[in-house]
Amino acid sequence: MKILGIETSCDETAIAIVEDGREIITNQVYSQILKHQEWGGVIPELASRMHLEVINDLLERTFTDSRLNWNDIDAIAVTNGPGLLGSLLVGLNVAKVLSWLHDKPLIPVNHLYGHICANFLETDLKPPFLCLLASGGHTQIINVKDYTNYEILGETIDDAAGEAFDKVARLMKLPYPGGPEIDKLAQTAQDTFVSDDSPERFGATAIKHGKYCFPVARAPGLDFSFSGLKTSVLRLKEKIGEELWEKDKAKIARAFQECVTKTFLKRVKEVLETEPYRHCEEQSNVAISQRTLVIAGGVAANSEFRKRFIEEFSEDHGFKLVVPDLNFCTDNAAMIASAAYFLKKEASKNLELEAFSR
Ligand code: KG4
Ligand code: ZN
Repeated sequence: MKILGIETSCDETAIAIVEDGREIITNQVYSQILKHQEWGGVIPELASRMHLEVINDLLERTFTDSRLNWNDIDAIAVTNGPGLLGSLLVGLNVAKVLSWLHDKPLIPVNHLYGHICANFLETDLKPPFLCLLASGGHTQIINVKDYTNYEILGETIDDAAGEAFDKVARLMKLPYPGGPEIDKLAQTAQDTFVSDDSPERFGATAIKHGKYCFPVARAPGLDFSFSGLKTSVLRLKEKIGEELWEKDKAKIARAFQECVTKTFLKRVKEVLETEPYRHCEEQSNVAISQRTLVIAGGVAANSEFRKRFIEEFSEDHGFKLVVPDLNFCTDNAAMIASAAYFLKKEASKNLELEAFSR
């Protein structure tokens, strides 16, 4: 089954064709980043206008690249939320017109579910597994019980991890999006830093033993919180002054990134200690599949996050860790086409379909 996916929820216009949820036939992404960089962040009005400008060309390129035609396509998948409403509406309306014109079923896909499904692309991953999803707008830890049956165990109570990266990058006057910039900058820092678990207040432990370190926030239950960390970085900037801030930017970026990674590690370990994960080690086959971990979303492209998870959740320690290809961490339409296949929804030519922002 070949599904054509359309994704326009934020600042990437993307169209892809995926066969049976796993095999990518073509994956076209047009990134608007350069345009938004001029403004230091995504301008929603500009984003929807740019989706409109490029989407027809992108569709044409999808067919020339794949050498397929509409007769080969079985269904159309489209992101209908969450995201920027104006941007979503461009993709959704294009999908509706194509569905009507070419007489193809239309399958709505939740963007977050799409990020999880990015891990099915070019792999043989099967549920159940535990997924840590960290994007620009969401941070969730999800128990994926089956292809369409999942439970959110915890999520951020304030900023998303990607949002924290973007805000800290702005404090450092780095271009948008901040995540990849912090990642690059942190790699130039020489010293190794250890983020701090101590219960002292944010800011109080920002400089310890002459090194920068930030405390891991304590959110209730299995939730996350990143706004305190962002404020802690801001307080540090105020405390040490512009000159030292500029000089030590790479070290601070590294300490910040380590703190985010440690927050993720801590939570995942805590989830693994809760039911039903605790007993998995003792069980045979179930054990292996239940101890499958997956990371997803734009922040999953972070080098430190990937490295630490690969070290901690190795096969030697009894885990199977699936880390998506860098191209499938950030927004793309292949993950949307994949999600539609696994949803196997009652697809219809639903021209009443609505977009939702949150
Ligand atoms: O999943 P995504 O492309 O879009 C949303 O659905 O939000 O995620 C974008 C987010 C941005 O906040 C961006 O700064 C972050 O992912 N990001 C990274 C890296 N690459 C992208 N964060 C940390 N390290 C990276 N290498
Ligand atoms: Zn996304």
